[in-house]
Amino acid sequence: MVTLKFLEAWKHVLQLCNLRPGELVCVLVGEAAHPDSVEAARLSAQMMGARLFKLELGEAPAAKIAGESTAAQGPTALSGNRGAVEALKHSDLVIDLMGIDRGREQTEILATGTRILLVKEPPDVLMRLLPRPEDRIAVRAAADRLTRAKIMHATSKTGTDLTVGLGEFPVLVQYGYADEPGRWDHWPSAFAAGWPNEGTAKGRVILSPGDCILPFKSYVRTPIALDIDGGYIRHIVGDLDARYLRDYMDSFHDPEGYAVAHLGWGVHSRAHWTMLGMYDKRQTNAMDARSFSGNFMFSTGPNAEAGGNRHTPCHLDIPMLDCSVALDGKPATIEGRVV
Ligand SMILES: [Fe+2]
Repeated sequence: MVTLKFLEAWKHVLQLCNLRPGELVCVLVGEAAHPDSVEAARLSAQMMGARLFKLELGEAPAAKIAGESTAAQGPTALSGNRGAVEALKHSDLVIDLMGIDRGREQTEILATGTRILLVKEPPDVLMRLLPRPEDRIAVRAAADRLTRAKIMHATSKTGTDLTVGLGEFPVLVQYGYADEPGRWDHWPSAFAAGWPNEGTAKGRVILSPGDCILPFKSYVRTPIALDIDGGYIRHIVGDLDARYLRDYMDSFHDPEGYAVAHLGWGVHSRAHWTMLGMYDKRQTNAMDARSFSGNFMFSTGPNAEAGGNRHTPCHLDIPMLDCSVALDGKPATIEGRVV
């Protein structure tokens, strides 16, 4: 049942998305769409005077790997459905309750000026992490620093020492609402990230107890050492958690899955590291973990959404605790705190 509070939250977010009367809104519904969000999206868009259609797609192609789409990427029910893609290109705002494949159809739809807002978390998470204009200011400030930077250097007391070159790709900017033409965002989120220049990631990342691995949606218990050279993870060393990570990545049979992808930090003041432990895995998309203030998000796999050529479905987001990030020698975070 849609509560009044939830409906108010949706109206608030659609207002932040600059939804205007008469604009065309598509509510894109996939298999995993939360029924309350389907209903609240429809009602709130209509209350604001938008024109509306709901697009319900068929079944997605069978997944090769268990789990779901919080991180792993690949073809969706939209892939190859030209009629549906054209309908989305003619919309002003797409409320994506399914999860469009980022590097492919999504790029084409955004290029027409359509705004896309991805929404996958359950109602209580959406309301707890309701976006605010100040999130945009904090994320933009982080993104501006990333845009100007040439070198990112991430370190930790546990041994992380990673260097990457920046500047080849645009910066990933997520503050929880899609307020400009051609903008994609994800409610809820608040982080910025840069994409390493091809082949430049080099060093060592030590995943330590408490770091979050997505899509596993679990906390690391035993340290994992990732040796990185030429932009790719070359060795994964450690005990049980390393074995698990290694076997998962190997199961894609895709060398591109070992590439280092977006790297950045969270600035969300209401998201919390502990929340991943509070939900059943099927209940949450782990946006608390990606967004909490000061996390260093290491990631692996594709860079197609940034304009790169890498399309691998093997994608991991790994928010880490207590790391320090420097850009061109100047600190952006120090031991897990945003400067
Ligand atoms: Fe990611």
